[in-house]
Amino acid sequence: MKRIIVSVVLLAAMLTIQAREVPQVANIMARNTTSLNGKWNYIVDVQEEGYYDYRMNPTRWGFFLNAKPQRPEDLIEYDFDAAPTMQVPGDWNTQDERLFFYEGTVWLKRSFAHQRREGHRTLLYFSAVNYDTHVYLNGQHVGHHVGGFTPFNYDVTELLREGENVVILKVDNKRRAENVPTQIFDWWNYGGITRDVMLVDVEPVYVENYRLQLLSREGRQVGFSVKLNQAEAGQQVTLSIPELKIRKVLTTAADGTASVTMKAKPQLWTPANPKLYKVEIQMGQTTLSDEIGFRTIETRGKQILLNGEPIFLKGVCIHEEKPNGGGRANGTDDALQLLSWAKELGCNFVRLAHYPHNEYMVRQAERMGILVWSEIPVYWTIAWTNPATFDNAQRQLTDMIRRDQNRANVIIWSIANETPHSAERDDFLGRLAQYARSLDSTRLISMAMEVTSAANYKNRLQDNMNKYVDVVSFNQYVGWYRDVNDAPKMVWEIPYDKPVIISEFGGGAKYGLHGPKNQRWTEEFQENLYEQNLAMLDKIEGLSGTTPWVLKDFRSPRRVLNGIQDYYNMKGIFSDKGEKKKAFYVLKKWYEGK
Ligand code: GCU
Repeated sequence: MKRIIVSVVLLAAMLTIQAREVPQVANIMARNTTSLNGKWNYIVDVQEEGYYDYRMNPTRWGFFLNAKPQRPEDLIEYDFDAAPTMQVPGDWNTQDERLFFYEGTVWLKRSFAHQRREGHRTLLYFSAVNYDTHVYLNGQHVGHHVGGFTPFNYDVTELLREGENVVILKVDNKRRAENVPTQIFDWWNYGGITRDVMLVDVEPVYVENYRLQLLSREGRQVGFSVKLNQAEAGQQVTLSIPELKIRKVLTTAADGTASVTMKAKPQLWTPANPKLYKVEIQMGQTTLSDEIGFRTIETRGKQILLNGEPIFLKGVCIHEEKPNGGGRANGTDDALQLLSWAKELGCNFVRLAHYPHNEYMVRQAERMGILVWSEIPVYWTIAWTNPATFDNAQRQLTDMIRRDQNRANVIIWSIANETPHSAERDDFLGRLAQYARSLDSTRLISMAMEVTSAANYKNRLQDNMNKYVDVVSFNQYVGWYRDVNDAPKMVWEIPYDKPVIISEFGGGAKYGLHGPKNQRWTEEFQENLYEQNLAMLDKIEGLSGTTPWVLKDFRSPRRVLNGIQDYYNMKGIFSDKGEKKKAFYVLKKWYEGK
């Protein structure tokens, strides 16, 4: 009887004290944060013993309670503090060899001290967790998030205690048909808290997001808009761009937004001169600083114009993976390493495949003068007719755009890769494309399409999505998956008056393996394939860019050829150790001529 009363009282208390998910706060790096990165205890829970009872009903006595025996006879069959630890941010696959192939649930726990700041609120922010995450704080459910590559945050002010607090995550990276990405994809399904975790201290009313961009070159019009976390009128927000002698005070309207257009003559951001301006956005006691560049991006017929000038996008595709078998990349050092290799190739552009990469990567590319194609993992055979799948894809698209909308180097939002044609697919992608444009009409929309017919060396691209995209991009693997040595005979029919990007081409090679050029897996085979492909691509009318597949060899569970692949996709131009294959020099030379 006493136990029932106790649990009813506890339940009542729990119902009143709630956390809630709030829209992603932008520019997290400039916020007043406390990092929760570091060592987290983890429990591998294959059968989700910590979440379901033996009747598969969610249990109230789960691992999220972090329960400890109170009396000698108490039965608690888990103990985070006795469990091993792993580094966060980081995937579990490369930190515990038992979890190399593991796809399932892992619980992660971290204790931290907290001091309440009178009158302030606290958000719990995750840069990304792969894939299906339940968040608990001090035994209470904070929220549930699906999607492995975009930020999410919760207002946890009421749940936080003075002193010791415990945050616990149930992370499940099992692949499912209704997920985005779906069940099969050609990269390693790194699980865990793969990016930064932090507490964010904010005032009750704060700047949730903003956008600062060059609206028109001729008119030298710069536009600034700001959105508060609350629909509150009369709030003063001050924008300062000292170098441009700009200081504007805006007052929010009833919906908590404000905007202004002003004349300015900024130096334009270009790959050769990636000029960024120090910007400050002040409201109340809080000032957010940022570095923002100004440029315009548009198309004219088959040309892509950066600041009104035609540009050829000399690119490469990159997966978010550390070299040397290191797992998920995160942080500026990893970004610098991967992007420096792209720079060595002569790139001014990268396709961050096939999901939004971490913010360090995008910002480092911006500082290095590298333009970015950013993509959501609507990859291969998505569950087109499942409304939850669409909502998930739309949510990932929203969060990708919200996070990077102020990055001058981000020029293309990609909504899909190699998706099979059907009316359901067209409906799904058509809605996504229009939605992307409604969120951001200042950037180009695209997707990686596929050649639909290739008879008698005549390659034809026919895709109903052409009407929704600004740039027609497609993947082709002449020389690898088909028509070896036939590249010189190929003819391309792309019946759209839009710029063309070859978003993938290439072939595999094992670094150091040499032999005749018709010998698969040799560097000579890949070198020859590149020579032939580049000559072929030069003949494509309206070719405005290329992003060969792929910067470096990367892990994939689909690549099982022992002695050659060993769970690596070997199409890198660099090996996983950063060794240059012969194709590197072919592509570098071609880009020098562009
Ligand atoms: C596809 C796909 C990539 C994949 C590549 C390959 O086109 O988009 O994700 O890795 O081909 O087959 O190597």
